[in-house]
Amino acid sequence: MRNMIEIPDDIIKLAKEIIKNSYALYSKYNVASIVKTDKGNVYWGVNIENASYGLTICAERVAIFNAVSHGERKIKEIYIAVNNEEPAIPCGACLQVLSEFGDDNTKIYSFSLTSNKIKHWTLKEIFPYRFSSKNLNNF
Ligand code: THU
Repeated sequence: MRNMIEIPDDIIKLAKEIIKNSYALYSKYNVASIVKTDKGNVYWGVNIENASYGLTICAERVAIFNAVSHGERKIKEIYIAVNNEEPAIPCGACLQVLSEFGDDNTKIYSFSLTSNKIKHWTLKEIFPYRFSSKNLNNF
């Protein structure tokens, strides 16, 4: 049978708790994100909007920056949770940030907290061509 992927119970429980902190005053689209690092540690974030709309930051980047701020450098898995029926698709900015701290095999799991829908990809599948340090002359 295809698509037997399941989101671990502890991730669902944590996502339900932290999505309450999502600050989505304008879009009303609440998002929570949780990352797991190569050290087995877990960090999270929520989307944080702003009256100056363009300053909004997605939950994924908050979660990644939280991990990096704690000294982590390698993300193995990222989870994205929404209350909407359809799982979110991570935006291009978040994928670029993820690619800095992930690799081809980094797993992305996006799920709904109100339906049983799950979408999942590897970073390579969802973002096959990426700008990276390999493209820089002096790196
Ligand atoms: N958003 C995320 O946090 N992650 C996504 O994957 C999609 C979009 C946020 C940004 C903004 O606060 C709201 O969702 C609507 O775009």
